[in-house]
Parts: sequence; structure tokens; C-alpha cells
Amino acid sequence: MAKVELEQVIKAYGNLEVIHGVDLQFEHGEFVVFVGPSGCGKSTLLRMIAGLEEITRGELRIDGRRVNEVPAARRGTAMVFQSYALYPHKTVRENMAFGLKMARTPRDEINARVRDAAGTLVIDELLERKPRELSGGQRQRVAIGRAIVREPKVFLLDEPLSNLDAALRGQMRLELSRLHERIDATMIHVTHDQVEAMTLAERIVVLRDGRVEQVGTPRELYLHPANRFVAGFLGSPPMNFLDSRVVTSGDGWIECLAPGDLRLRVGVVRDPGVDGGGVVLGIRPEDLRLGRRDHGVVVSGRVVHMEYLGSVLYVHAECASEDGPTWRLVLMTKPDTRLQAGQSVEVTIDARTCHVFDGAGVSVTAFSRGEDSTTG
Ligand SMILES: Nc1ncnc2c1ncn2[C@@H]1O[C@H](COP(=O)(O)OP(=O)(O)OP(=O)(O)O)[C@@H](O)[C@H]1O
Ligand SMILES: [Mg+2]
Repeated sequence: MAKVELEQVIKAYGNLEVIHGVDLQFEHGEFVVFVGPSGCGKSTLLRMIAGLEEITRGELRIDGRRVNEVPAARRGTAMVFQSYALYPHKTVRENMAFGLKMARTPRDEINARVRDAAGTLVIDELLERKPRELSGGQRQRVAIGRAIVREPKVFLLDEPLSNLDAALRGQMRLELSRLHERIDATMIHVTHDQVEAMTLAERIVVLRDGRVEQVGTPRELYLHPANRFVAGFLGSPPMNFLDSRVVTSGDGWIECLAPGDLRLRVGVVRDPGVDGGGVVLGIRPEDLRLGRRDHGVVVSGRVVHMEYLGSVLYVHAECASEDGPTWRLVLMTKPDTRLQAGQSVEVTIDARTCHVFDGAGVSVTAFSRGEDSTTG
């Protein structure tokens, strides 16, 4: 296990800067997930930690020691690549043993470590096969096994599950979590899949365009997104956003005018500034209610689309404004709800569940509910 620290880390290819001064700290044994859209710099950051990519400026420390100049093989890191990168002509056993052999590890030690790793990953039966004789999931396990035998202090995984089908991905997610409990390593896992990020991570780092948008537990990020980007990135279907205008404000609250002439009074930690133009209200699909409810304002709409997932139903409704364009909401409801496309519906928006983002997209929401809780 090791502590990993990045201080003002910058990466530039020639004149093109792609990572812009990233500060991050990870504790011994933490399971961290980097998530963000394609091209945001996830792999570049991981490769810099691994030593496969030079750090242009800033400092990388592992266990308190600067390692910028330390070659990859001596950083105590091991990386698993999306492409697996197994040697096709070597057996599973030889693939797993190769790195240790190069490091002149004694033969008995190699055998013992390969046996242990194979047991952990349930690939004991496959040790004499070649990679082409394995399924995608089995190859993935071998690639992980090859990293485990090196007993790294820091385990780096770059989209290791993205070539697998959905069922196998779910299974491998559980296996990675269990692996993390068993091995003594800090794990940094890269993905663009928010479900993978939410389910695996102890802490998530959300990246965008070479910058850190927010760091926190899955719960913190989902319940208290720091900005509109994080709010929209985590959650499926994504949060609804309503362009709104502040009409009045008081101590710790603002009243907004949203499309459809909706007036919503929401709690804020600071006044987003009436002069600064509009604000954006954010509402998660699971916080909207079909029909008229006690708390909140009611908006009328028409069902335009439904997605039935068995355990839940997503309803897309189009709402008309008095004078403006139509706007859409997506909400989550019970799967046995009887609805038809074209049908008129009423939707209740409870202001207590609304997020508020200022003109720059920064959250100013004051939460009155949904706090972290272990009981429920
Ligand atoms: N060798 C290179 N030369 C120039 N630019 C590069 C190079 N490698 C990566 N980049 C750029 O750096 C940025 C970050 O790339 P990176 O591969 O880290 O993204 P990513 O978040 O891993 O994306 P993906 O999800 O698609 O794998 C991108 O804009 C990419 O075009
Ligand atoms: Mg990548």
C-alpha cells in the first residue's frame, strides 16, 4: 500500500497542454476511480503515475518520495491496460511470470506468486493455455493476474472492463472490489462508465478537459455535486436542467422563475446574484413525482416517450411555456404505471429537491435533505 500525491501536475505535448495543474492525494489502500468524458486526460494521468509518460511540471510522490525521475519498473506500480497486452505466444503461466523473471525473482518465489494470484482470480485451470484459447473475461483476469504477482504498492487500471459484455462487466466489478479487500494496494481505476465509478470507488475523481472538477465519495458527488458538469455527468437518466431567473431573494433563499411560469423557492448558501443573468435549476428524475402532490409546484405536460426497464419506468414529458419554447423533463416512476404516449400528465416539482447552479455553473444549493447517512 502506498500514499500517492500529485502536486500541480502538468502534462504538455509540445505546446499543447492537456493536464493543467492537478492536485490530488490518495491514502494507503484507497480505491480511487478517475471518471470523465473521452479525452479529459484520465489515461494521461494514470500513465504519468505509472511512469510511462513524463511529467512536464509539478511533482508526483509515492509514500512521500518524489518519483518523477524514477523509472516505471522501480515505482512499485503495476498497470492493467484496456487492450490486455498479453504475449500471444506465451502461456498464461508464462505471461504472469514474465515480469518477475525479468526482475530475476527466484523460481520458487515466482511459482508461489503465480499460484496465489491464479487462485485469487480463479484461473488455476487455465495456466497452460495461450491467450487465444481464452474468453475476453479470462484474458482480462490474466492481465490483472500479471499485475498482482508483482505485488505492487499501487495498482493502476485503465478501463480494464470496457471490452467485456454487460454481464461479465458486472461480475468483474464485484471481483475487483473483492480483490481490493484482499490485496494490500492502493488502486486507481480509470473508466468513462459512471456505474463502474459509482460502484467501485471509495472516492471518485471527476475530470474534464485536463482539470479536476470534484473529488468525493460516490454519495457526496451524487447528492452534492459541486457544479453543473458533475451533476449532469453522474446519474442516469441525467439530471433535468431548467434555465431560470432569480426574481427575489432573501436570507438563505431565492425565488426563481422557471419555464412554464413556475415559481420555485429554493435554499442557497449564497446569493447567485440577480444581475449575473440566470441560474439553472437541477432536478433528478427520481425527485419528480407524477401527479399532484402536497409539496411543490405542479407543471402540466404531455408524455412523448417512455423507457421501460422492468424495475423502473422513465417518462419523458414535454411541457409548454406560456410564451417560450417547449421544454422537457424526464422522471422515474414505478414500472407498472399505466401511461400512453401523447397522454397529458401533471408533474410535481418539490423545490426542496432542486439544485441551483449560478451563471458559471457552480452549485449554490443549500440542502435540507439527502444528507449522507449510513442508516438509510
Ligand atoms: N501523444 C500525444 N500527443 C498529443 N496529444 C495527446 C497525446 N496523447 C494524448 N493526447 C491528448 O491528451 C488528451 C487526454 O488524452 P487521454 O488519452 O488522457 O484521454 P482519456 O481521458 O484517457 O480519454 P479516453 O476515455 O478516450 O481514453 C486528449 O485531448 C488527447 O488528444
Ligand atoms: Mg483513456
